[in-house]
Amino acid sequence: MSIDSVFSSLLHRGRLHRAASRNRELAREIQTLEKIDGFGRKWSAANYVGGYSSYSSLDKLHLTSPHFADLQQALEPHLRHFVRKLNWQLLGGKVQMTTCWVNAMGLGTYHPMHTHPGSVISGVYYVQVPRASSPLKIEDPRLSLMMAAPPRRASAPKSERNYLLLAPKPGEFVLFESWMRHEVPPQREQSRRLSVSFNYEWR
Ligand SMILES: [Fe+2]
Repeated sequence: MSIDSVFSSLLHRGRLHRAASRNRELAREIQTLEKIDGFGRKWSAANYVGGYSSYSSLDKLHLTSPHFADLQQALEPHLRHFVRKLNWQLLGGKVQMTTCWVNAMGLGTYHPMHTHPGSVISGVYYVQVPRASSPLKIEDPRLSLMMAAPPRRASAPKSERNYLLLAPKPGEFVLFESWMRHEVPPQREQSRRLSVSFNYEWR
């Protein structure tokens, strides 16, 4: 007899080198982007209340800014490691970053639950995280299929909980498969929570 753990989901977290100086440069650039990106500010006023995101306006920053290109380079070995762990056969294709944008969350700004359709791996890098900032909340991909199952104990291991809350830390990244539903609950701090989001496609 056996009880096996099957169909696991992988999440890759880590810390980049040179985080303090990288984050100073990125924070400065995010501030500049918010100033010059009128379209993004307008979009954010309607869709990202209390904050600024370049999601709708400047979403290829890894191709247009040396600081974001440097971030992409620093993430690359971690991305390759994650792809190996996922046991993917790339069949001559590559997993490459296709979009990269910034998020500055103010008091009450939130990201509702979502996936990143069209991509295979998505992720986030944290630039500035005021104390008591909102976590990244990841949903168990099986949750919608559990139907009549009883709730789980609060002491259940991480892999068996309905939601996983990851506290952001400056200099840290999270990589996950793009189908994994996630959200950021309303930010509880006036000062900005700064992050960079990105998607990788298989081409
Ligand atoms: Fe997301």
